[in-house]
Amino acid sequence: MKRFSFVLALMAAISLIALLSAPAAAEHNYVGVKGCKMCHMAADKGAQYKSWEASKHAKAYETLGTDQAKEVAKAKGIANPQEAAECLKCHVTGYGSDASMFESTYTKEEGVGCESCHGAGKDYKNVTIMKDVEKAKANGLIIPSEEVCKKCHNEESPTFKAFDYKARVAEIAHPRPQK
Ligand code: HEC
Ligand code: HEC
Ligand code: HEC
Ligand code: HEC
Repeated sequence: MKRFSFVLALMAAISLIALLSAPAAAEHNYVGVKGCKMCHMAADKGAQYKSWEASKHAKAYETLGTDQAKEVAKAKGIANPQEAAECLKCHVTGYGSDASMFESTYTKEEGVGCESCHGAGKDYKNVTIMKDVEKAKANGLIIPSEEVCKKCHNEESPTFKAFDYKARVAEIAHPRPQK
């Protein structure tokens, strides 16, 4: 009898752990910058799309096609950086995720898109969710901190020099107006 209830308790504990860990493991699909553009274009809301488009992040894939990139790659024995996992992992959004996680609106040409910093957007981009930041976070939205940047801005980058978060985040700032 004692052993039986022990087994029951164990089973309950296991299912509780499975239940608790499920949301953390939830994965969201990537929609690409096109999935954010329509609502984050207007000047009176901060035109985040335009700020991003003008930033080097939007050119990160293109950069891998330059002579400079080819030089950097050659030193590592890589022929085409635009095809190499060693380079794409930081120069495009969501690299390494399963193919099923990319919606048809996503393209790797967007380079380091919104979702590289804000998390895959399929489940939070709906306006009723987006309006409520807590709901959006529960559906995958990330309000990025230094740690997010350092996933890419680190010594593993062949051209890395240093990363001063305060200075760098100011360079890419895209705030909403009145805040
Ligand atoms: C259907 C319209 C819509 C789409 C699509 C959309 N957003 Fe939003 N987003 C909003 C609205 C509305 C807010 C609330 C604040 C505001 O009015 O600017 C918001 C707020 C945000 C915020 C600020 C959250 C906070 O309160 O600090 C971030 C970050 C954000 N969106 C990122 C994204 C990203 C990334 C995408 C694409 C994956 C996206 N949004 C797609 C409408 C949208
Ligand atoms: C760990 C992430 C990471 C990896 C891996 C990576 N890069 Fe980068 N790359 C970056 C970041 C971040 C920058 C922006 C440089 C900066 O300001 O720190 C960058 C910038 C560059 C630049 C522009 C440098 C400049 O001075 O303007 C080139 C070219 C480049 N990378 C090529 C490559 C190639 C080729 C590979 C593969 C062999 C590669 N990168 C792998 C993160 C990475
Ligand atoms: C997915 C990888 C990734 C993430 C995450 C990321 N970056 Fe970058 N960042 C890059 C790459 C790659 C480049 C170089 C693009 C190029 O030159 O084509 C870059 C370039 C930059 C530049 C321009 C540097 C220059 O030489 O002009 C700034 C500023 C910057 N990042 C700031 C940030 C900040 C701040 C964060 C976090 C909030 C961040 N980045 C997150 C990959 C990333
Ligand atoms: C390189 C990383 C990075 C990329 C790429 C990026 N963002 Fe952000 N975003 C940030 C950071 C950092 C903040 C400021 C977070 C905070 O308030 O602490 C931010 C804030 C925001 C805010 C809230 C502004 C406010 O004042 O409350 C919105 C909206 C937003 N981003 C939308 C977007 C959209 C849309 C895109 C793509 C077109 C995008 N972001 C691309 C890093 C990024």
